[in-house]
Amino acid sequence: MNLQIHSDRITAELEALASFSATQAPAVTRIVFSPVDLQARSWLKQRCAAAGLTVREDAVGNTFARWIGAEPALPAVASGSHIDAIPHSGRYDGTVGVIGALEAIRALQDAGFNPRRSIELILFTSEEPTRFGLGCLGSRLLSGTLDLVRAASLRDAEGAALDQVRTRAGFSGPLAGVALPPGAYHAFVELHIEQGPLLERGSIPLGVVTAIAAPATLHIEIEGEGGHAGGVLMPDRRDAFAAAAEIALAVESAARSTGAVDTVATVGICEVFPGAVNSIPSRVRMTADVRDIELERRDALLATIRERCSAIAAARGVTVRCEVLNADAPAQSSPLVLDGLRGACEKLQLSYKCMVSRAYHDSLFMSRIAPTAMLFIPCRGGISHRPDEFASAEDIARGVLVLANALARLTE
Ligand code: GLV
Ligand code: MN
Ligand code: MN
Repeated sequence: MNLQIHSDRITAELEALASFSATQAPAVTRIVFSPVDLQARSWLKQRCAAAGLTVREDAVGNTFARWIGAEPALPAVASGSHIDAIPHSGRYDGTVGVIGALEAIRALQDAGFNPRRSIELILFTSEEPTRFGLGCLGSRLLSGTLDLVRAASLRDAEGAALDQVRTRAGFSGPLAGVALPPGAYHAFVELHIEQGPLLERGSIPLGVVTAIAAPATLHIEIEGEGGHAGGVLMPDRRDAFAAAAEIALAVESAARSTGAVDTVATVGICEVFPGAVNSIPSRVRMTADVRDIELERRDALLATIRERCSAIAAARGVTVRCEVLNADAPAQSSPLVLDGLRGACEKLQLSYKCMVSRAYHDSLFMSRIAPTAMLFIPCRGGISHRPDEFASAEDIARGVLVLANALARLTE
């Protein structure tokens, strides 16, 4: 089969997607269900329709575009990712896996390939946690991993409930209908930029992902006492931000102290109330993102952070509440899909590295209901979640070529 990957078309489509942004180029901001997200979704659906795919959307906005195979009753082979983008990020995270899957399907169509199983592109809703605090919202619901009462209780920063926001965006119906049964897919493959430096450093064009690290998020709320920045003397203070600063350093040192390169922890949000130059902070809301490849070590780190929070609270006379927003298990890739990816690389005589994903992806949850694996391509400097995120057209096209070959193998 002679597969032609149209690199110029991919570049143009990534450019078009990047134009749906709430911030100025090169920064991309596309928060789920915002006007630009809805515009990008509608643009993508047109591209899928132009490729002759049958499009369906579920109640949370997960979008499925299917190329119907010769035996439509068989479980399909799927590929996809997300198009939502965190504030001030770049144009490749997630989008490469969506446009890449579409291009892989078009290349197979153009080559006259006749798939036995259907091949489906999936666009997952809200892989990023920006709006509702919880990442992989669409794939959690799809895999039946997210409790529906919890889902209904999710709210955005304006206090709007998920149900309200999705209905306004045009997605209604019970969330209970989103979950798919195990067996719905024969295989799932996600193409993604590495978001780390290993492929580029090793001059290796492809990464075959064998496992995805276990992510967790803590929401930490600190209550101290506010007051006049001039009037309240230092011994009398219960400054919520000073406690938060100490907690942030404790998070960092706890992660470093495991001694494992795979342990990472980040305080990425710190909101100070009331946020005035001359007012002692009375309240802080912060998050800690904690990850590890080893679940026990990740959980031990969470416990250490909670202990440090209690100790800092006692020493400073403030109250600290820690809530675990998510603490997910890691995922192991499926031998079936790994074989498909490795077989495709070998047939094309492309070298690859077997590696672990330290970032999470919708694949973490798809692996709960379908044989799943991921394919990574390099990104410049390993940079991601920044406007200067970059993957070359050549690297993307190579990833798409391997993806198309792997999809073809998996449909047999
Ligand atoms: C996904 O965006 C992650 O934070 O790993
Ligand atoms: Mn991301
Ligand atoms: Mn991503």
